[in-house]
Amino acid sequence: MPTKDDRRLRIGVLGCGQIAQAAHFESCTKARNADLFAICDVADDLRERMRWAHDPRKSFASYEAMLADPDVDAVVIATADAYHVPASLQALDAGKHVLCEKPVAATVEDAEKLSRAVARTGLVFQVGHMKRFDAGLQAAKAFVDDEMGDLAALKAWYCDSTHRYAMTDAVQPLIVSSAKARKPAGNPKADLRRYYMLAHGSHLLDTARYFGGEIVSVQARLSERAGMFCWFVDVEYAGGALGHLDLTIAVRMDWHEGFQLYGQNGSVVGKTYNPWYFKTSDVEIFHERDAVTRRPLGADGHFYRRQVEGFADTILNGAPMLGATAEDGVASVRAMVAVARSVEERRTVRLAEVSGGL
Ligand SMILES: NC(=O)c1ccc[n+]([C@@H]2O[C@H](COP(=O)([O-])OP(=O)(O)OC[C@H]3O[C@@H](n4cnc5c(N)ncnc54)[C@H](O)[C@@H]3O)[C@@H](O)[C@H]2O)c1
Repeated sequence: MPTKDDRRLRIGVLGCGQIAQAAHFESCTKARNADLFAICDVADDLRERMRWAHDPRKSFASYEAMLADPDVDAVVIATADAYHVPASLQALDAGKHVLCEKPVAATVEDAEKLSRAVARTGLVFQVGHMKRFDAGLQAAKAFVDDEMGDLAALKAWYCDSTHRYAMTDAVQPLIVSSAKARKPAGNPKADLRRYYMLAHGSHLLDTARYFGGEIVSVQARLSERAGMFCWFVDVEYAGGALGHLDLTIAVRMDWHEGFQLYGQNGSVVGKTYNPWYFKTSDVEIFHERDAVTRRPLGADGHFYRRQVEGFADTILNGAPMLGATAEDGVASVRAMVAVARSVEERRTVRLAEVSGGL
């Protein structure tokens, strides 16, 4: 059994689908300061199997009933994107803290509505950008904040692999599905530009903002050739740095994700692995002061569990939020929409001017 603190956050997970099975159930169970207190799914067969497998204290067919339970402190929203905003608003209305899967919304207006609700309630709201809990990225971020000085330029890339399912099938638990699962109407993969940006671009843009700060404008081009979608995005940061982002789905090679930062007092080069290997990024930080490169090990690569622990620490102990906030979620949605507009209209697009969705 994992070692547990005396004070623990009682979490209810909405959704017993793929991401709950591969990440959130185990994360809540293993977290030192949280419990998998409840699970919820409308699909009775799926929920029953998950109840037997993960042994939560309670199990609900109705989300409303889970939210009405005074013993549930917080919820993890592990559903399709289209339900993120309504399910988060319901939870906030019920006085529950929220850890919501990414992307937080698919339109600027929805993201802003949610962000206003978060501000109104004062509850903790975190977006499931678990890469912010990768110890390699955290070490790079600490260097950026404490030592690096001015950032001149940043490059970041996120390239899914044509072999990704062979990789993930080999390491993930066998995912159980149900014909009774609630899914939004239509096929989310009918529009691949939109689907790839929401599913993968949201991660890249969050990483770009994590290191570089606010993005002012983007100029993006998209190449659709040989079954590949390749976005090259020139970024202007509020702090004056230049950015270049590469989102490619899918490259004919291994999973290819990473970043480079060129700063006044040093540089960082990072290589990130497919998340399901639970392996901390290889991050090399060159310190100009002593001309030495340091590379943290990050033995604990369970970003999803670390994300739950960070969320619980903020709620239980008022610890600073290490994850992405509702405002980060809004900024990511604005950035994704701006990239889409820039491709369509072949011009530089300022994030402040965009509205609507992808
Ligand atoms: N952070 C990551 O690394 C990562 C990786 C993969 C997916 N995701 C995110 O996870 C989300 C998709 O999760 P999934 O593939 O597990 O979804 P899914 O559709 O497979 O499962 C969601 C489950 O929630 C249930 N559900 C939905 N609304 C409900 C309601 N109101 N009441 C009760 N049950 C309800 C459904 O019946 C379904 O079983 C997406 O937002 C995606 O972006 C994140």
